[in-house]
Amino acid sequence: MKNAVYAHPNPSPEAHGSSNFLKNLFFPLLSSSHPNIGERLQVDMHAHWLPGVDDGAQSDREGLAMIRGLAELGYRKLIATPHIKKQYENNPQILKKAYDRFLKVVAQNEITVELGLAAEYMLDEGFEEHLASGPLLTLRDNYVLVELPHHNIQMLSAIQKTLFKLQVEGYRPILAHPERYSYYFENFKTIEGLKEAGCLFQLNAMSLAGYEGKEITKRARKLLDQEWYEFVGSDVHNPQQINYLKKVSLTREFQNRAF
Ligand SMILES: [Fe+2]
Repeated sequence: MKNAVYAHPNPSPEAHGSSNFLKNLFFPLLSSSHPNIGERLQVDMHAHWLPGVDDGAQSDREGLAMIRGLAELGYRKLIATPHIKKQYENNPQILKKAYDRFLKVVAQNEITVELGLAAEYMLDEGFEEHLASGPLLTLRDNYVLVELPHHNIQMLSAIQKTLFKLQVEGYRPILAHPERYSYYFENFKTIEGLKEAGCLFQLNAMSLAGYEGKEITKRARKLLDQEWYEFVGSDVHNPQQINYLKKVSLTREFQNRAF
């Protein structure tokens, strides 16, 4: 079948090492010969391959390249999570329309991996309007992927208030890449406060592979050691970033298959 994409057939031998010490670790490998991140997770629940809606894929060609690249890592299902935040004026209707159009492009290219659509909501001033104006774009029934502003830092109490409202409406927040929020790591109690406020945590796989720098890799490892991550996402924004994912091998189970 022309242009079809299939899962990598051989799981990484490193992922099945007999050492008990290694058994429960999650570590980046330097070799790209046996990528297994997709085989381990099955579902990528955070990525920006839907073209033309945010700072992710800028063309169908880029979007297709990202889907192919991810599928080659062994993922069975890929969920696009475009940004919903002030600068993009996205909402569920706009994104569904863009997604339906792109699905036709994907079908023409005979790509066999399963696809889905959710969103990554910025918890900024505009978020409560989205919450009030109708159903959010969720992962499965009620899981909402959220991120925090890197600038315009909010007080923990304000974030907790928003998280509380979200949960009162029946949603379950998943905080994207907590390891990337430098400000909140200055006082680790803030990260604890986000967990206590009901956030499930999602690790960016690229954070482990050094894409964001040593400090972020260190924070990611700390949260991993504490077993605070429920999910792992690629958060890829362009086809080149997939090379970083090839360096990551997972030896622990996460909950991605729920989606
Ligand atoms: Fe993202």
